[in-house]
Amino acid sequence: MKTSTLLSILGGISSTIASKVHEKDGEDQKPITPSPPKHEPISAIPPVGLGLWNSKGKDATKATLSAFHNDYTHLDGAAAYGNEDYVGLALSDKKAPPRSSYWLTSKLWNSMHQPKNVPIAFNKTLSEYNTTYLDLYLMHWPVAFLPDRGGRSIIDQDTSITDTWAAMEVLASAYKASNGAYGARHIGISNFSPRQIDQIMKMCTICPYAHEFETHPYLQQQEFVNWHHRAGVKVIAYSPLANINPTYKDVMPDLKPILEDQLWEAIAKKKNCTVAQAILGWGVARDTVVIPKSVHEKRIQENLASLNVKFSEEELKEINKQDKKIRFNNPSKSWGVELFEGLDDGTNRFLTADGEL
Ligand SMILES: NC(=O)c1ccc[n+]([C@@H]2O[C@H](COP(=O)([O-])OP(=O)(O)OC[C@H]3O[C@@H](n4cnc5c(N)ncnc54)[C@H](OP(=O)(O)O)[C@@H]3O)[C@@H](O)[C@H]2O)c1
Repeated sequence: MKTSTLLSILGGISSTIASKVHEKDGEDQKPITPSPPKHEPISAIPPVGLGLWNSKGKDATKATLSAFHNDYTHLDGAAAYGNEDYVGLALSDKKAPPRSSYWLTSKLWNSMHQPKNVPIAFNKTLSEYNTTYLDLYLMHWPVAFLPDRGGRSIIDQDTSITDTWAAMEVLASAYKASNGAYGARHIGISNFSPRQIDQIMKMCTICPYAHEFETHPYLQQQEFVNWHHRAGVKVIAYSPLANINPTYKDVMPDLKPILEDQLWEAIAKKKNCTVAQAILGWGVARDTVVIPKSVHEKRIQENLASLNVKFSEEELKEINKQDKKIRFNNPSKSWGVELFEGLDDGTNRFLTADGEL
């Protein structure tokens, strides 16, 4: 597809960005090759990132600046977190590092799944972040809502995840065609079931770079994680500190916070680190990308240092035996859809059309 065609599909791109890519549309005009980014973009998704859900207003700006100050190179945001403008303030701050030196993820919200809305949502995120590209754009949930329903979540029965994925592929193609000047470097999924992944895998021409889903010591999903590794899809582990997120307090009210779990206290003692560092270090050791959220600089610093906590194969096997299979984030009931099909039946076995995942 020609760059100019792509850009016209993308509609709503600022003329400045568009002009960087292709100055004139006439057939006799030679396409202008955009100058390559000043710095090579960061090569792959860093193993630890700063989560941004529930970081409100100026706290989100402060947390992002603290993360930069403490050498983070990865931010995990989303339109639904309602703070992209506040994160954007930090990205534009004079203390922020060059854009190419950190990884920026955002997510497409459910009410923007209709293909015509995908570039609109994407461009809004870019403009709030004051950037021209994302390193990763995820479909936040495999669920489409009707747009413009004043915050009410009404399922859009006519928009499929494959329709939405095809529109996201256009954003990834734009990145390539513009030599990194505009678009999504990578696209991915979040909260998908095996069957839904299979649907995407069967039709994608640009396949998911990563899948972000809930996984931590109390919901290990090791078999599912292993499947992603075999398929070459990176796993981003959200809520890596399990039930510490206050939003989850009513799911298992009698379960002690994981930071007071005796097993993890013992592991932390043995490794001479904090409990949070042990849990996050375990996440990295099993080859998942962890994205702990904090608005406190001391914790932000502490969480990145989990990279120094190592685990042996034996230890990983022992911890695997302690899985509690508890999912804290499941809006199935409130949205009236079945999510995580095949993952929560107690045995974690799942089948796709081509056989077992
Ligand atoms: N794709 C999705 O659907 C999805 C869903 C959920 C989450 N996510 C992403 O994953 C990120 C992380 O998940 P999460 O926010 O659910 O939970 P989390 O990162 O597992 O836990 C966050 C909670 O832990 C506290 N905390 C962080 N570091 C700590 C430390 N070292 N010691 C003690 N307490 C600590 C934070 O408090 P303070 O802030 O007060 O320090 C906050 O209350 C999110 O922010 C978001 O970016 C994505």
